[in-house]
Amino acid sequence: MTVDKSGHRVQQMFGAIAPHYDRMNHLLSLNVDRYWRWRTVRIVAPQGSAPILDVCTGTGDLALAFARRTRGAVPIVAADFCPEMLEFGREKSCRAGYAQAVTFREADTQALPFERNTFQIVSVAFGLRNVSDTDQGLREMVRVCQVGGRVAILEFSMPQRQPLRAIYGWYFRHVLPPVGQFLARNNHAAYHYLPQSVGEFPQGEEWVRRMAAAGMADVRHYPLSGGVATLYVGVKM
Ligand SMILES: C[S@@+](CC[C@H](N)C(=O)[O-])C[C@H]1O[C@@H](n2cnc3c(N)ncnc32)[C@H](O)[C@@H]1O
Repeated sequence: MTVDKSGHRVQQMFGAIAPHYDRMNHLLSLNVDRYWRWRTVRIVAPQGSAPILDVCTGTGDLALAFARRTRGAVPIVAADFCPEMLEFGREKSCRAGYAQAVTFREADTQALPFERNTFQIVSVAFGLRNVSDTDQGLREMVRVCQVGGRVAILEFSMPQRQPLRAIYGWYFRHVLPPVGQFLARNNHAAYHYLPQSVGEFPQGEEWVRRMAAAGMADVRHYPLSGGVATLYVGVKM
């Protein structure tokens, strides 16, 4: 059975878990998600003063990682179509002292309200998998990226080596859904949806080919933490 990724359903689901999202994220990943974002902003290091866009930003953790990396000197747009997630992001950004540097914007990744060739980096973390038409989301990310700029996609993946592969599969199927459901105040949909949507998302070389087909050159992928997550980076031609 394929996952129901209709925009309205996804929006509602993230709206419902927004108050618990950050806590659950860090707990269920044993805080490793922070390290993955930290690595991302180092592998995809900002250059110069052109703006950066983070789509499907949720509560803005990757946008804030870029803000820390650039010490607030580069304008960053953090876009998502779920207003509840954005609100938590805005508060967090103010507390961190980046209210000026990071602008939170309500926008659908499939129809971004930005001019073509605007951003030096267009990033997404654990988000493109949720977009109803993933390829359309990817095309939009490429469209608004500057020629020579980079598109960076951080996503869960399946480790290739045993025993990590077996342990991860078990954790994802049997531990994460019930624990997530309990922590998200019984929101059944969100944490059963997660392993399903990850299972359906293309990985490794297959995703590299999709990025190349969307107009990117020199596409590389960096497995993180034994392949539990992968960072894909391409340069817009
Ligand atoms: C799993 S969260 C990831 C949030 C954040 N990037 C992170 O690393 O924690 C996925 C986010 O994608 C957003 N999203 C899903 N489909 C979207 C779309 N079509 N346009 C904009 N945002 C979307 C959801 O609202 C949600 O905030």
